Amino acid sequence: MYDVETIRADFPILSREVNGKPLVYLDNGASAQKPKVVIDAITQAYAEEYANVHRGLHYLSNLATEKYEGTRGIIAKFLGVKDEDEIVMNTGTTMGINTVAYGWAMPRMQAGDEIILSVMEHHANIVPWHFLRERHGVVIKWVDVDSTGYLDPQAVIDAITPKTKLIAVTQLSNVLGTVVDVKTICDAAREKGVAVLVDGSQAAVHMPVNVDELGCDFYAITGHKLYGPSASGAIFMKKERMAEMVPFIGGGDMIREVHKDEVTWNDPPMMFEAGTPGIVQQIGLGVALEYMMNVGMDNIAAHEQKLRDYARARLDGLNWLQVQGTTADKAAIFSFTLDGAGHAHDISTILDKKGVAVRAGHHCAGPLMDHLGVTATCRASFAMYNTEKEVDVLVDALELAHDLFA
Ligand code: ALA
Repeated sequence: MYDVETIRADFPILSREVNGKPLVYLDNGASAQKPKVVIDAITQAYAEEYANVHRGLHYLSNLATEKYEGTRGIIAKFLGVKDEDEIVMNTGTTMGINTVAYGWAMPRMQAGDEIILSVMEHHANIVPWHFLRERHGVVIKWVDVDSTGYLDPQAVIDAITPKTKLIAVTQLSNVLGTVVDVKTICDAAREKGVAVLVDGSQAAVHMPVNVDELGCDFYAITGHKLYGPSASGAIFMKKERMAEMVPFIGGGDMIREVHKDEVTWNDPPMMFEAGTPGIVQQIGLGVALEYMMNVGMDNIAAHEQKLRDYARARLDGLNWLQVQGTTADKAAIFSFTLDGAGHAHDISTILDKKGVAVRAGHHCAGPLMDHLGVTATCRASFAMYNTEKEVDVLVDALELAHDLFA
């Protein structure tokens, strides 16, 4: 039985007020709040268990290494990956995608080779590919979504040509909430010898993910959206792909031997983890993922689907509100504009006065904004601890904004 009030009680920040009103935190797409177990784990790591990892032979270094490395196995379990050596720990999805761009794509892609992207990618899954376009003449091919925000997997498959080397696609749009059928894309891509990178930044927060079943080559996640610390994260990279890669960032830990005129690399995943890592961040991420698995990803998904349906019904009742992204299979993420109302920033300021935190702007999704013909939207993005009552507070605040602007 999913008891949202019990879950809320685990998140200290949710009981605070903002602008004299109870906080209604609907900016989870940008970053999620942290349960007390994560906050406590961070404090404990610094207070009692801290030293650098992989380097010392002393007690604390061994303990910190054990805790830090423990997270690798937890991430593997969370993503349904059997071999934890296929998990590279990092600072989040941006680092993960750049690792693929520099470590896998750059050394093997030539001028004229193609990368397929959907129009609803986040800048983190666009800009690294622009580097390849600008510096190496790689061609970016864009696949549009339809008027509801649905991405037809067949349209992605149809865009594959003999020159296609990579498909880089989100599993869940941070703006529209659209869920993408990445398995169908992966199945077809594999048959054609095309690699698939899945941006799982948003998807892994809202639905169970099994990377082995998806069959993708790369799957990137970010810890701060997964109720974990900022600057924590990971990318799954298939063993065969890792074997094709060169290291991206050089430094300690990623090497085996360094001499004046020679250097040899450590084995993956260490080869991709240069320098002192986010030791405490990753320890906190492990605790966050265990928290999510204890609640149960199916339970989280079911709760959020109910919230989505309730929010959809309430927002549909506002005939002056334009919601972007109306596919049936979407997460509880609602981007909207108000007819005749001011800029999205003005709307979010009014909502903030009522204690409601939403994001306003382009949501790091420039090509999607162009496709939608808007410069900015407000976005309410829900998480495991949100309630129907909070949807009502959002709707009341929107009505106030509409009254003020109309
Ligand atoms: N990717 C984050 C968002 O969608 C920052 O807001």
